[in-house]
Amino acid sequence: MKLDNRTSTISEKSYNRDDWQGGYESLSQEYDYWIDDIEGEIPKELEGTLFRNGPGLLDINGQRIHHPFDGDGMISRITFFNGRAHFRNRFVRTDAYVEEQKAGKILYRGVFGTQKAGGWLANIFDFKLKNIANTNVIYWGGKLLALWEAAEPHLLDAQTLETLGKEYFNGVLSEGEAFGAHPRFDASCALDGGAPCMVNFSIKPGLSTTITIFELNLAGEVVRKHAHSVPGFCFIHDFAITPNYCILFQNPVKFNPIPFALGMRAAGECIKFQPSMPTRAIVIPRNPQQKEVQILETQSGFVFHHANAFEQGEEIIIDSICYESLPEVEPESDFRQVDFEALKPGQLWRFSLNLQDKTVRRILIEGRCCEFPSIHPDKEGRQYRYLYMGAAHAETGNAPLQAFVKVDLETGEKQLWSAAPQGFASEPIFVPHLSNSGEDDGWVLALVYDAAHQRSDVVILDARNFNQGPVARLHLKHHIPYGLHGNFTNEVFIK
Ligand code: CO
Repeated sequence: MKLDNRTSTISEKSYNRDDWQGGYESLSQEYDYWIDDIEGEIPKELEGTLFRNGPGLLDINGQRIHHPFDGDGMISRITFFNGRAHFRNRFVRTDAYVEEQKAGKILYRGVFGTQKAGGWLANIFDFKLKNIANTNVIYWGGKLLALWEAAEPHLLDAQTLETLGKEYFNGVLSEGEAFGAHPRFDASCALDGGAPCMVNFSIKPGLSTTITIFELNLAGEVVRKHAHSVPGFCFIHDFAITPNYCILFQNPVKFNPIPFALGMRAAGECIKFQPSMPTRAIVIPRNPQQKEVQILETQSGFVFHHANAFEQGEEIIIDSICYESLPEVEPESDFRQVDFEALKPGQLWRFSLNLQDKTVRRILIEGRCCEFPSIHPDKEGRQYRYLYMGAAHAETGNAPLQAFVKVDLETGEKQLWSAAPQGFASEPIFVPHLSNSGEDDGWVLALVYDAAHQRSDVVILDARNFNQGPVARLHLKHHIPYGLHGNFTNEVFIK
């Protein structure tokens, strides 16, 4: 009976809601083991570490949090070494995590709707938000950092994943100062004589918004920091770089702080998408000597993530996943009950920003619902050909990510591998082969939640033979709740 039901569901939809919801169960346990249950073979040449971050807890001692973006950050580390793989996960011991675990209840308001018990009286004028360190994890300058865009990073021990404290980059950041969760890595920075550098930004929103740009050298030191004021409230999650510019999209939203201050709504619930307002592309020179910020307007749309950007003559080309509109985070709603079909899918668009005549053209590149773009690390900020993303199984409509798509931007060819009906996708990470003989010579690594077994798989795809399916599927002993972002490093941290 159950089987029949499922089969009939698949014919209309590629997934079953109960299956999808299983990926939003908490994982409270911390593991440390070699992965033995493997289908296929781990390529011997694949050596290094994949770090992932995301909400590990969707409840505090049974008290459900309101939105997964409010979940405590949990780091997963997958080490590839000599044809084998090792798994370890640990929660980031933020002050709030430690306090709440001790108290056994929610003590902090979350940005995306989690409130303390007791209604608005318990939450009124409580601006103490929780730095949950759950959005990204990077390894740079010998430091493993868990990032959350509204406050300072947490420093972790790469060997043990132990939380060592907060990171201020030798006093460059002040206490509680924001540091974005989407740094970009310039493989060859012109301002630093061709040395690699990491570029990041932070946002201080208000009636006008301060955008700060940070650039860090390989030693992890901040070598450039400059701030710019732009008109209006900004909700900006990601940005893109080229050799000369940082590009940020100011999404068309309005923020009404009153319900937040009164404790009736969380900050994220006070942001309203404005379909009649334009999206603004903010172009900031990376060279601190050049202070002129340019703002170009384009059609309304909401962008969380950019794939890449590059300069071409008078233009900056930027590829971004854009939503026609964005629903509000509702105070009474349960994200597990989201009506996928009622929402607009994220789609890949190419924006051409003409800095001479201040015009923006845009064309749709991929209409399939997609998110979490990834490219060859050496192509960051440069003209590139291949792009990898999480995608829906079906070509049209909005649905959970169940597949991965490779897009050839030169020929328009698309290759897809789908884990439907019971597999659910996440951010893919492209890892170049050490021989680096071509832009798609390498592997795509990703976590896939397998609802049939209530566990997650680490999936290894050969980027050149993408639609042939994984060369290896590593079955973990447990699931990992749907995560956000991560990064790969060639270094190995286990003995
Ligand atoms: Co993101």
